[in-house]
Amino acid sequence: MQVQGKHYRTIWLKPGDPEVVQIIDQRPLPHRFVVEDIDSTEAMARAIKEMHLRGAGLIGAAAGYGMYLAALEAPKTSLEAFLQYLEEAGERLKKTRPTAVNLEWAVARQLSAIRERATSPAQGVKVALAEAEAIADEDAEFCRKIGEHGVRLIEEIYEKKGDTVHVLTHCNAGWLAFVDYGTATAPIYEAQKRGIPVHVWVDETRPRNQGARLTAWELLEQGVPHTVIADNTGGHLMQHGMVDLVITGADRVTRNGDVANKIGTYLKALAAADNGVPFYVALPSSTIDWTIHDGLREIPIEERGEEEVKYIQGLLDGEVRRVLLTPPASPAANYAFDVTPARLVSGLITERGIAEASEEGLLALYPERRQA
Ligand code: MRU
Repeated sequence: MQVQGKHYRTIWLKPGDPEVVQIIDQRPLPHRFVVEDIDSTEAMARAIKEMHLRGAGLIGAAAGYGMYLAALEAPKTSLEAFLQYLEEAGERLKKTRPTAVNLEWAVARQLSAIRERATSPAQGVKVALAEAEAIADEDAEFCRKIGEHGVRLIEEIYEKKGDTVHVLTHCNAGWLAFVDYGTATAPIYEAQKRGIPVHVWVDETRPRNQGARLTAWELLEQGVPHTVIADNTGGHLMQHGMVDLVITGADRVTRNGDVANKIGTYLKALAAADNGVPFYVALPSSTIDWTIHDGLREIPIEERGEEEVKYIQGLLDGEVRRVLLTPPASPAANYAFDVTPARLVSGLITERGIAEASEEGLLALYPERRQA
């Protein structure tokens, strides 16, 4: 997508230095645009864990490139030693964030590509690079297709009401969370391209404020009309007919359509159900965990440090600063995700089309996942 009119993806190989990966460091956004060099598996693991980058699809792409950096670092004395190093590097990467399944999916995809196609360590490096680029390209392409499928929902509403379509979104499931386009935002960008008037209610998304800081910045850069709202506002807007459609992203979706996403998503789904507002979740198939059924019992929910809750980051006198919000001695809890049961989800927008949020709905789009 565009930043000051220039096209960027969120992750790429450094021009002129293919042994270095570059990312957009999301921590100082929206106030500073910083590109960071990542030159080792350790640096990539830190970037994922400390959230220089974040978002399910981007975490997957970063793990793909992290495995390429591991292949560069790995001993080249024998294929066995090379593979052993990669397996250990994969374990280190997988430990960084627990909820988004894209991370383990990308590590597993890299390991099986390298095991299948590499006959020497030197060739293993080439395979790892090709696979990292394939994962990133596929993520961008799947998001673009999610836009094409999801725009139908916006079009239908526009055809009925003949006026601006108001979409509410939570957290950041925009292009910063993927390689390009985003998931929840892709239908919005597609609607804008097709000339459909659309306006986005952007949940600020406490505690880290990914909506206020990242989604708002993205939409502003693309010229999409939007309004940032405090998280507690959505229910009121829905009661007054001011939201036509909710679209969120997902960090992990179970085989039967339960959705783990940023904390607070469940409350929006409840409010949407109570007010008859359609509630859709947009995701690439790399976010589906086909091995589990029950989101509430089986999806690991990340618990993060209390600083995110106790402090707020913003711009003060031209500097990006953190300020303390709570009494210093008050303890805080920081559950990063919640699970929205499939029964509250109107549909899942994927790269293959829109599925009902159920095992049968998903299998109709992904029949190869049907077990014998
Ligand atoms: O805590 P974060 O920023 O890592 O949260 C993850 C997310 O990006 C959101 O839950 C998002 O809506 C999922 S779509 C990538």
